[in-house]
Amino acid sequence: MSPHAFPAMAAAAVELDQVSVAFARPVLHEVSLRVATAETLAVIGESGTGKSTMLRLILGLQQPDVGTVSVMGHSLRAIGRAEQRTLRAQIGMVFQGAALFDSLTTFENVAFGLRESGVMAEPAIRTRVRETLALVDLDPDEVSQTLPAQLSGGMRKRVGIARAIAPRPALLLYDEPTAGLDPLTSNTVTALMQRLQQELRVTSVVVSHDVRAMVRIADRIALLHEGRFVFVGAPDAMRASDEPYTQSFLAAA
Ligand SMILES: Nc1ncnc2c1ncn2[C@@H]1O[C@H](COP(=O)(O)OP(=O)(O)OP(=O)(O)O)[C@@H](O)[C@H]1O
Ligand SMILES: [Mg+2]
Repeated sequence: MSPHAFPAMAAAAVELDQVSVAFARPVLHEVSLRVATAETLAVIGESGTGKSTMLRLILGLQQPDVGTVSVMGHSLRAIGRAEQRTLRAQIGMVFQGAALFDSLTTFENVAFGLRESGVMAEPAIRTRVRETLALVDLDPDEVSQTLPAQLSGGMRKRVGIARAIAPRPALLLYDEPTAGLDPLTSNTVTALMQRLQQELRVTSVVVSHDVRAMVRIADRIALLHEGRFVFVGAPDAMRASDEPYTQSFLAAA
């Protein structure tokens, strides 16, 4: 095997294979998708189409009714609890609306995952938290002791991102990173995400209905509609697509 053959053979960072999920009604129907290592893939679609559900599947918080979800080459169905915990430790999640712990300071929020995994000593955690706050353009001296309620929406979002990336995950999941932010703050958060992709080279799956933001940061965009991906491809290809729903979704954005 030539060395060039390896990347193509390498496991996808995330793979959904013929995945179906139904609650009261079908949400995802035989959905397949591969996210390559170091790729940024955006999943867009209307409210209630199953975007957050997809992230819960990748996190292993929910099992598909049918089909397989694999993360970094491991089928989540086939692995035990201990292995699942190890895998989970390599995934960072930026929750819809930041979801910080209200009674913890910014420092404690960002340190949370590091302390929980128990692999880093406190001085190393301190250094890592300060580095990570700087990475998301927050001044550690200024914000470390503040509580979430004292921060602006944009700053809370940055702290949420810092908390997710502090353990330096291999895979980063964002749920609606720009929702609820004014256009300028939304732009700065998008620019931050773009910079983190370059600096950390982390595989990212971003769920959003903000098409403009996703066109700027995604390598590929997957558009979810009525349980299926009606379009998957590069932003330019999406604009050029003649698929009717894709056109109407873009026209409405
Ligand atoms: N645990 C659950 N029990 C029952 N129904 C659920 C559950 N989780 C999600 N649903 C339903 O599945 C559908 C998809 O939900 P999901 O949260 O994945 O949508 P979404 O695309 O993230 O929407 P939004 O853009 O509003 O965040 C919705 O109709 C929702 O009501
Ligand atoms: Mg959602």
